[in-house]
Amino acid sequence: MKKIMVVNGPNLNMLGIREKNIYGDKTYDGLVEFIKQKRGEAVELSFFQSNCEGAIIDCLHECYFEKYDGVVINPGAYTHYSYAIMDAIKAISIPTVEVHISDVDSREAFRKISVTAPACIAQIKGKGFDGYVEAIDLLTEEKNG
Ligand code: DQA
Repeated sequence: MKKIMVVNGPNLNMLGIREKNIYGDKTYDGLVEFIKQKRGEAVELSFFQSNCEGAIIDCLHECYFEKYDGVVINPGAYTHYSYAIMDAIKAISIPTVEVHISDVDSREAFRKISVTAPACIAQIKGKGFDGYVEAIDLLTEEKNG
């Protein structure tokens, strides 16, 4: 069974509280439950959330040493400027899919830029929580494995 890490960055612990018109009314725990329900039997899932750049980087490094097969990451606002997280994704050489709950292309101009996406095999945006499930499916396709 493939080992997949699902990483959520800053402010995603505030799901269900923050800007509900954009991110919906489901909580972070609700997101974790949703993903487990959808793919928990097909893959070995781990979850990590942090508001700190360094902690996210440490988690990505750990994925390398713990031999994860894939990473799903929503880097939150770090998407738009964290070259350190981009470097970490490149450093671990594990297929990684970037997910955004909202459609970052139809919002403020700064959100259209992702510095982390070029290090990923795909970017999924604007599909709500379903985007995470789609990302897992991409990572478990044979050709990405
Ligand atoms: C987000 C989009 C980012 O621009 C924003 O900073 C977030 C969440 C999303 O999931 O839509 O925190 O990554």
